[in-house]
Amino acid sequence: MIDQYVSPNELRRLISTLLVTVGAITIFGLFALIVVPGLRNANKPPASPPVAAPQGETGWLDPTEYPPEHGYELPPVDPKTVMTANPELLKRGKALFEQNCVSCHGPAGQGDGPGAAGINPRPRDFTKADGWKNGPQLLAIYKTLDEGIKGSSMTSYNYVRARDRMALAHYVQSLGSFPHGQDDPAALDALAKQFAKGGEKVPNRIPVHLAMAKLETEFKAVAPLALPPRGESDANAAVLAQAVVNPTRAAQTLAAAPSWRENAAALAAVVSNETPTNGFAISVATLSPQDWQALYDGLVKATQQ
Ligand code: HEC
Repeated sequence: MIDQYVSPNELRRLISTLLVTVGAITIFGLFALIVVPGLRNANKPPASPPVAAPQGETGWLDPTEYPPEHGYELPPVDPKTVMTANPELLKRGKALFEQNCVSCHGPAGQGDGPGAAGINPRPRDFTKADGWKNGPQLLAIYKTLDEGIKGSSMTSYNYVRARDRMALAHYVQSLGSFPHGQDDPAALDALAKQFAKGGEKVPNRIPVHLAMAKLETEFKAVAPLALPPRGESDANAAVLAQAVVNPTRAAQTLAAAPSWRENAAALAAVVSNETPTNGFAISVATLSPQDWQALYDGLVKATQQ
């Protein structure tokens, strides 16, 4: 019917023009919808820089480099300043609590810190009188901080100096308004005397990179013992062959305890422990003093390289 108006040739031309136009519009549309937004997003600056790990917080795998520090002895503490609560001590306790305890015990000590959610048993609620394992008395809390509570995520804080542990104990008590009970007067007296005597030691501290280097050398691979070839007539060689069951393990045992080099007796002390897992035969227990001397000479030679 349409051929009444246009010739077949003209119709073919019109249809192909139509197809080309529709195709061009489709391609243009896809380009505008897919490619252009993609380019715009790709050129956007990143929303915010990646979050940096907080540095210098106490904890496991803290990468902060502390300066090396010699250990020292703390001066005696006047028991009056630590055995009963006072505002200064409570202030110190609060600061320490906020740093070390809030994550589990919560800001008000109700056992509802952000870290408490998946913990079993739950962190103690310091505002309640019940459920305490060591007890809410001053010395009981001090003991908890010293030893931790076995089988729970309450770990020992015995690396915190004694005066600060007392500050924490007083602060924990201040969070609950129930009666906390009395400690054994003799135990209180003993602790007071300990404070007055002083002598608490702060250990040496070395930077993390040094500690890691030390660890590395301790675990450095040790070359296996160079044992003389079997069948050698030398007496030392015969004892060596009998005594060493695992040359690599034996070399590690010796490297970990250099005191064996002093003499045959020192060697016997090092080697007789934990045979045969230390690389030496159980039968070393039956060696005569002469055999030990022969083993000693043989090992000195075998570890010379
Ligand atoms: C990792 C979580 C965690 C942190 C951090 C933590 N605690 Fe605990 N704490 C616990 C849990 C869990 C218990 C309950 C243990 C149980 O019931 O066996 C507990 C119990 C206690 C108790 C009660 C002991 C008793 O007699 O029952 C005291 C006191 C205490 N914590 C003090 C502290 C102080 C002070 C700090 C900070 C220096 C601290 N805790 C940090 C998890 C934690």
